[in-house]
Amino acid sequence: MKVEKLVMTEEDQQMAKKYNYEYGMILNNVVLPTLVVPESYELSRTFETRLSDICLAAYSKSGSTWLIYNILLITCQGKMPEGKDLADNFLWPAYGSDYILTRERLRNTPPPRIFRSHMPYHMAMGGDPEANLCKYVYIARNPKDVVVSFYYFAQNWGGYTGPWEHWLSLFMEGKVWYGDWFDHIKSWWERRHADNIHFLWYEDLKADYDNELRKLAKFLEYPMPDELLRQIREETSFARMKSNEFTNRQDADDHPKNFYRKGVVGSGKEQFSAAQNEQFDVWCAKRMKETGLKLDRALFG
Ligand code: PPS
Repeated sequence: MKVEKLVMTEEDQQMAKKYNYEYGMILNNVVLPTLVVPESYELSRTFETRLSDICLAAYSKSGSTWLIYNILLITCQGKMPEGKDLADNFLWPAYGSDYILTRERLRNTPPPRIFRSHMPYHMAMGGDPEANLCKYVYIARNPKDVVVSFYYFAQNWGGYTGPWEHWLSLFMEGKVWYGDWFDHIKSWWERRHADNIHFLWYEDLKADYDNELRKLAKFLEYPMPDELLRQIREETSFARMKSNEFTNRQDADDHPKNFYRKGVVGSGKEQFSAAQNEQFDVWCAKRMKETGLKLDRALFG
C-alpha cells in the first residue's frame, strides 16, 4: 500500500495547524482522517466478504447513520436490535482509532454482517465491489447541505476551529476528509447499475420514504410488509433517532454531540452568503463538466 504524504502548501500547513484540522494519510489523492490507519485500511480492503454482507458507503454527512439504522431494522425485520448502541450493530473495518477490528472478529460475526465506510468506490470495503458477491448501498446528498453539516461536525467532533469561509474553500479544493465530493459521488454513480450496488439520494429518502424503503428492502432481499414499513419509518424518524439513547448516546465520550443537527433538505444554503452561493454554483458547474457527472436533479439550487 502506497501511503502518500499530503502535499500541502506552506499556507495550507499553517492554516491546518492554526485551525486544528488533523489530516491523516492521503491515499489515491483522498485525504483521510487520522482514525484511518494503514492496518485498518488494509483490513477493510482485503477481508473475505460473504454473500449475505451489506456494505454501506457514503461521503461524510450524507445520511449514513439514518440509512444504516434503516438497514439494520430491515434485516432484523422489526425485532429491536441488541446492544446499547447502534454502533454495536455494524462493523467499520477502516476505523482504526480506539479499536482495530481483526480478521478473526470479522469471521466470527454472524450473518448478516453490516459494514460501514466513507470511502470512494476504488477504496471500497472488501476490494472491488463489482467483482464481489456482497451487496453495496451508497447514499449521496446534495453538496450544499453536506458542506454545512460537515463544517459543524468538524467543529463539534474534530476540533476544527476555523471560520466557515475557510472550510468552504477546503471543501471546494477537495482537502477535507474523504476528498473531493464530485470524485466521490462519481466513483459510485457510474457503477450504480451493477447488480450488487444500490445508489440512493438522501433527498429521495426524505421526499418519498416509503417507496425508497421498499426499493431498498427489495434490493437487500428482505420482505417489507406495510406494518413493518410503518414501524421502521417511525423508529428512524429524525425526532425519534435524536431522542433515542440507542441512536444518540450521550454518555460516551467519543459520541459526537449535536450529531442530529437539522436533518432537513436545503437548509445548507442559509449558511452561504450570496457571493459564496454564486461561487459554489460556479464550482459545481465546473466540476460537473470536468467529471462528466450529469445529475439530472435540482441539487445545487
Ligand atoms: S457521518 O458523521 O458522516 O457519518 O454523518 P451521516 O450520518 O452520514 O450524516 C449526518 C446527517 O444526517 C442527518 N440525519 C438525519 N436526517 C434525516 N433523518 C434522520 N433520521 C437522520 N439522522 C441523521 C444528521 O442530522 C446530519 O445532517 P445535518 O444536516 O447536519 O442535520
